[in-house]
Amino acid sequence: MHREIKTTKDGSKTLYINELNESYHSSHGALQEAEHVFIKNGLNLINYSEINILELGFGTGLNVLVTINEYLKTDKNHTIHYFTLEKYPVLASEIDALDYPSLFENEILSEINTKIHAADWGKPIEIIPRFFLTKMECDFFKLSNLTLPEIDLVYFDCFGARVQSDLWELPMFEMVSEKMKTGGLLTTYSSKGSVRRILQSLNFNVEKKPGPPGKREMINAIKL
Ligand SMILES: C[S@@+](CC[C@H](N)C(=O)[O-])C[C@H]1O[C@@H](n2cnc3c(N)ncnc32)[C@H](O)[C@@H]1O
Repeated sequence: MHREIKTTKDGSKTLYINELNESYHSSHGALQEAEHVFIKNGLNLINYSEINILELGFGTGLNVLVTINEYLKTDKNHTIHYFTLEKYPVLASEIDALDYPSLFENEILSEINTKIHAADWGKPIEIIPRFFLTKMECDFFKLSNLTLPEIDLVYFDCFGARVQSDLWELPMFEMVSEKMKTGGLLTTYSSKGSVRRILQSLNFNVEKKPGPPGKREMINAIKL
């Protein structure tokens, strides 16, 4: 499918799929959305010495980059294992055109972005000390077949239900839940009522949080 680059309202860029009328990020601000949904309401709520993160899906790698940017602000005495799934990897030329390192003050992010995208698929790569990235070229529906450690934090960042409704239904969340630790957190930009009910039926404590710019609410769900 043909993808084009679009600039979102905070000046950061995203990919847009014309045939689906769907973007990889919010048109109100790709960077703001990533930082609000996955950092402020995700990573920053977890406080373990080893954190296992599962992301659906890798896409442009922006969520990996904001996660590393946040990690670099800490005393770096914890370890992150970041697993990310993607079936349709984006092109190197698209990564260049998105120019995400220019969004960050820390110049080391440029080198890190190159490492993220050069990383081999299917094996853990230590991008910076104590931050291990495993990119998995895999269909979300094959998640059950993957061997993963118990997951503390899920970045549920699929395309919207309008274009991929089956990713927002019970079988998908059952598979995700099975990979999570008790007490693990799932964070997503969606606030869909049906998603909240599915998560509750799977014994999650579901909380509506204020959403990123352009969105009233989003979901945080803790596995009980
Ligand atoms: C909203 S985008 C992810 C955005 C990404 N987190 C980022 O920061 O760029 C959704 C991603 O899911 C991927 N995807 C869609 N269907 C998939 C499937 N069945 N299995 C695996 N990946 C899929 C798409 O290719 C796309 O990269």
